[in-house]
Amino acid sequence: MAQNSIGGAQAAVSEARDIVAGIGGEPEFAIPLLQEIQRRHTYLPQPLVEAVAAESGIPVASLYGVATFYSQFRFKPQGTYLVRVCKGTACHVAGAEIIGAVLAQELGIKEGETTADGLFSFEKVSCLGCCSLAPVVMVGDKIYAKLTSSKVKSIIKEYRSGKV
Ligand code: FES
Repeated sequence: MAQNSIGGAQAAVSEARDIVAGIGGEPEFAIPLLQEIQRRHTYLPQPLVEAVAAESGIPVASLYGVATFYSQFRFKPQGTYLVRVCKGTACHVAGAEIIGAVLAQELGIKEGETTADGLFSFEKVSCLGCCSLAPVVMVGDKIYAKLTSSKVKSIIKEYRSGKV
């Protein structure tokens, strides 16, 4: 067990070296460094954030300060399916708020959370780039357009049943 945690710590140090070498270790690179950690792991694992802080010289509190300020950063692993509801202007006008509320109710989680079974993470984003199809939701890399509350419910049902 102790060997595993030492191995894990060493892996974090070596990964942190790789990340900092690729991006840079100056304080202005805090956001890209965090983005790279999240790109690799879907969230910000604490040992790796600490190792990146040590490697770059950016205080760990500063990295967490940045990470908690921006909603893009996650502190737990992302679910199998990332559900993104668009809250951009076109979608807002077309009822995105109701779609978001239905999604939150169906999933049983709030924005930024992941379901207990690890299946879904739920986020709100500013525009998914297909405004003429509003209101829009993206599940993984699939776009669902011109949604209604009942369509949202059946989409989530399909993912839960493994039909998608
Ligand atoms: S505003 Fe929703 S896709 Fe652009």
